[in-house]
Amino acid sequence: MNERSTLKIDEKGHLRIGGADALDLAARFGTPLYVMDEQYIRDMCAAYRTAIEEEYGGNGLVLYASKAFCCTAVYKIVQSEGVGADVVSGGELYTARRAGFPAEKIYLHGNNKLRRELEEAADYGVTVVADAYSELDMLDEICAEKGKILNVLLRVNPGVEAHTHHYIQTAKTDSKFGFSVEGGAAMDFARYALQKKHIALQGFHSHIGSQIFELHSFRLAADKLLSFMADVKNTLGFEAAQLNLGGGFGIWYTDEDAVQSVSDYAAGLKSILREVKEQAAAKGLRAPFLLVEPGRSVVGEAGVTLYTVGAVKDIPGVKKYAAVDGGMFANPRYALYQAKYTAVLAGRAREKATERVSIAGKCCESGDIVCADVQLPPARRGDILAVLSTGAYNYSMASNYNRNLVPPVVLVKDGQADYIVKPQSYEDLVRNDAVPARLR
Ligand code: LLP
Repeated sequence: MNERSTLKIDEKGHLRIGGADALDLAARFGTPLYVMDEQYIRDMCAAYRTAIEEEYGGNGLVLYASKAFCCTAVYKIVQSEGVGADVVSGGELYTARRAGFPAEKIYLHGNNKLRRELEEAADYGVTVVADAYSELDMLDEICAEKGKILNVLLRVNPGVEAHTHHYIQTAKTDSKFGFSVEGGAAMDFARYALQKKHIALQGFHSHIGSQIFELHSFRLAADKLLSFMADVKNTLGFEAAQLNLGGGFGIWYTDEDAVQSVSDYAAGLKSILREVKEQAAAKGLRAPFLLVEPGRSVVGEAGVTLYTVGAVKDIPGVKKYAAVDGGMFANPRYALYQAKYTAVLAGRAREKATERVSIAGKCCESGDIVCADVQLPPARRGDILAVLSTGAYNYSMASNYNRNLVPPVVLVKDGQADYIVKPQSYEDLVRNDAVPARLR
């Protein structure tokens, strides 16, 4: 397990997170419940920020990739830690703005941004990471109308293959994201962007995938991007001021993954920053303002989801299921990626794990599994089950499938727990339903 000062099993065998007993949280707030450890999020932000200060003279910015977990409170937390935000839709941008996030620290992503989203980006004055010719046209037009000049990065593809689930590999040359450095597509895209009058090209962005442990992949991508930047300088006479290396650092889900401390993540980032400095110097480039966009690693291990065990079904000699009050509506990652997780019984976390069970959700389909084949002590109806490392891409990917309610989110710090996302009600579910006159 990824035990740390804010996530541990106490002498009673209870799981504690952020100084709170998981059983108390479940009793007070009900289940299913997402719990987020504020201190861990702060520590991760501070570690990345400090790495840039120490290894790169502070000439860069950490952008929290808010697609991993987006709500008003998390923007407040990362902002107070000196971290910027990567947003990927009008909805994320709106939430960040409402949280009071400063425009100069927001970068808007997306392979198919809507006109409305670009207008909102221009109104607020955020940096746009462009990913299509027609997007540059649209943005230039919008900025001309509004009498603005917007900072832009271009999404390029260094062709580095990261070792992770193929659905979340994005830098292969057949990707829907970015323009390939190899073969000249990225160069052509840069040439086009430089002709636009109302956008100020600042540099380049790439994101090579997610849940990556090989730092080598990031360093290789950085090398390729710096070579590309040198080519652009020679060919187009444009020296990029900014380089954004995206996110993707892997986290612990099960004991198949390395347990990393906050300082291990910082050390990993530092090794990438050293590579950038060395390669920039070797290629006669100024060290660019360096951006990174970690999402999963900032919030993933900060999160624990609490469920209550309901029906337990043993199919003798075949399989045992323990069903919980959550499911793919609260965490679709098993259904989408066969994601693996670690589960513990929050009130009997030290008891010997003697059974192999699959944790089933309550949705009407067989693929609705929360985690498959976990080792647990015999689980009984009423037990509180905690699934670890659920802070990233759980709440943010939740839905109302089967008209289940998206669980609330509670933030814990020093034993204090508060809602940061309130519970939904049945009324919320029907709020936008409409009944045409002919059906009344
Ligand atoms: N920057 C860009 C442009 C991205 O596309 C992503 C993630 C990130 C940063 C953050 O990457 P991270 O540090 O979180 O790995 N739903 C999937 C993950 C999709 C990631 C998409 N892009 C999952 O549940 O595993």
